Amino acid sequence: MRAVTIQTYGDPDGMSARDVPEPRVEPDQLLIGTEAIGVGGVDAVIRRGTVGGGAFGVGHVPGSEVAGTVLAVGDDIDDGWVGRHVWAFTGLGGAYAERAVARLEDVVALPDGLSSVDAVTIGSAAPVAHFALEHGRFVAGARVLIRGAAGSIGIAAVELAARAGASAVAVTTSSPARGERLRTLGATEVLDRSGKDAALRTDGQFDVILDIAGGPELPDFLERLAPNGRFVLVGVVAGYPPPDFGTSLFGLFQRSLSFSTFSLDTVSRPDLSRVRRELFDAVGRGELHPVVHDILPLERAADAHRVIDQGEVFGRIVLTTS
Ligand SMILES: NC(=O)c1ccc[n+]([C@@H]2O[C@H](COP(=O)([O-])OP(=O)(O)OC[C@H]3O[C@@H](n4cnc5c(N)ncnc54)[C@H](OP(=O)(O)O)[C@@H]3O)[C@@H](O)[C@H]2O)c1
Repeated sequence: MRAVTIQTYGDPDGMSARDVPEPRVEPDQLLIGTEAIGVGGVDAVIRRGTVGGGAFGVGHVPGSEVAGTVLAVGDDIDDGWVGRHVWAFTGLGGAYAERAVARLEDVVALPDGLSSVDAVTIGSAAPVAHFALEHGRFVAGARVLIRGAAGSIGIAAVELAARAGASAVAVTTSSPARGERLRTLGATEVLDRSGKDAALRTDGQFDVILDIAGGPELPDFLERLAPNGRFVLVGVVAGYPPPDFGTSLFGLFQRSLSFSTFSLDTVSRPDLSRVRRELFDAVGRGELHPVVHDILPLERAADAHRVIDQGEVFGRIVLTTS
């Protein structure tokens, strides 16, 4: 079968499509004929070799989410799954391929009418947004700021917070045009990446900050939390925060702020699958809008990564196999 493999960690030129052996199906796994494959920021981080120290090895097939049709099942799985249209999490690799395997607990049957492209656009990202808002004890009426809102997680967070009755949904983004697109999805205030150029620049306005960016500017954003505000670090697309970021937190001691990280790994698989199904259904009702930046053939995975590296993506890039 055709799959994209990483031959050299670093820039996207080190990955290319080639013929590889079919994946082996373990007893608790399903074999999926992939139709759409989500290209995530994590894939780019792994490809650059900045995590795992290249531990994924030469020949690693990147990618973690696919949608397609079940072709076969392992010995422990009901063969009624064969032929079903599903979304699946494949782990930290294995998705950029014509066929992929996933464990049953990581597979969700898709509702009628949901395309494979839409499924991989929100299948991972929207649950992260949902549970991160929950982790930040978001309630209707809360004022929310989402840093790094133009990615697939941020876009889902904007829509979910707006629909759930946030009294303000502020976002950071890198251009007015991207800000306008975020407004159409529910953002009420648009800030630049530093958060300093808009009317909303006084301290202490937000009850919840969802931060997908992290990086050196994170401490500045702690000041924007209201008393009892909750800061939830979801991603680090701008790098790790400075090691002394806690100093800013102590400087605001009298506001009783909370700082936390959030990882989907701490959500139980049944809860995750239940919410994922609900979010897929929400797409069908028109309540959640998968935002696809571009659709490229599998063979052009390296081009997809170049677009990510150039910081141009708004939403999700998707690879297709047909
Ligand atoms: N917590 C979890 O369970 C979980 C699960 C999956 C992924 N993640 C993490 O989530 C992140 C990827 O999320 P994603 O795919 O939604 O994000 P993304 O598309 O990679 O990036 C989101 C946005 O961040 C902005 N951005 C980029 N560099 C920035 C910088 N230096 N400073 C401020 N903003 C910057 C960009 O928008 P603008 O150009 O408009 O500013 C970009 O569109 C990764 O860090 C990944 O590890 C976390």
